[in-house]
Amino acid sequence: MGRDNMEPIAQIEIVPATPSNAKGIQDLMRESVMATYVKDDVTEDDVMDYYKGEQSPEGLEKLTKELTEPEAGVTNLVAKDKSRVVGYCSVSKMNPDNPDQNLLTRIHVLPSRKGERIGKSLWEKAQTALDQNKDTVLWVVENNTSSIDVYEQHWGFAKTGKRKEKPMKSGAIRKEIEMVRQAQTG
Ligand SMILES: CC(C)(COP(=O)(O)OP(=O)(O)OC[C@H]1O[C@@H](n2cnc3c(N)ncnc32)[C@H](O)[C@@H]1OP(=O)(O)O)[C@@H](O)C(=O)NCCC(=O)NCCS
Repeated sequence: MGRDNMEPIAQIEIVPATPSNAKGIQDLMRESVMATYVKDDVTEDDVMDYYKGEQSPEGLEKLTKELTEPEAGVTNLVAKDKSRVVGYCSVSKMNPDNPDQNLLTRIHVLPSRKGERIGKSLWEKAQTALDQNKDTVLWVVENNTSSIDVYEQHWGFAKTGKRKEKPMKSGAIRKEIEMVRQAQTG
């Protein structure tokens, strides 16, 4: 049997995000945060409330502006399968909290497409936009263990021990931990 009777191999493209991707990113983020953060004592309502700003029409407008004119040092990438946004990554080579670091601000893959190396392709491309002489920092929710495993076991990040706690609508606490990947040069 040749490939004639098989589904075509998915062609995933990693490209700079444009303003026309804003709605696709907003939709992807909604699916991803609901699938990722509704866990333990954090409810759907908590997650919807936490992300209500960025999920609103004004949030879409803000994202569209950010994609039109990204802040200095910021790179936004999307993974596209044909025209559908199936992954999103935002990085900065100037962490606003510490300009001596890069920041991995966001990386999300559509829940139904996780584990297909889309995250890996996004992260590989994103790294080329970072300052190779700087450490890279990220914050991740403590019970998001599958992502922490990817960061630790595959992408070279390590927990620093720094934590942030944010109360959510129901009173549940969103606990975030910091992870750092050392500069690969010098
Ligand atoms: C974390 C995330 C971006 C990774 O993207 P992905 O496309 O699912 O991951 P990939 O298929 O590219 O896998 C990356 C590597 O991790 C491995 N991996 C994938 N899932 C894993 C898991 N649950 N545990 C351990 N390793 C895993 C893969 O084998 C691959 O290894 P390799 O680079 O050695 O080949 C994605 O799962 C996601 O969007 N998660 C939900 C949102 C989220 O938590 N984002 C991070 C917020 S801080």
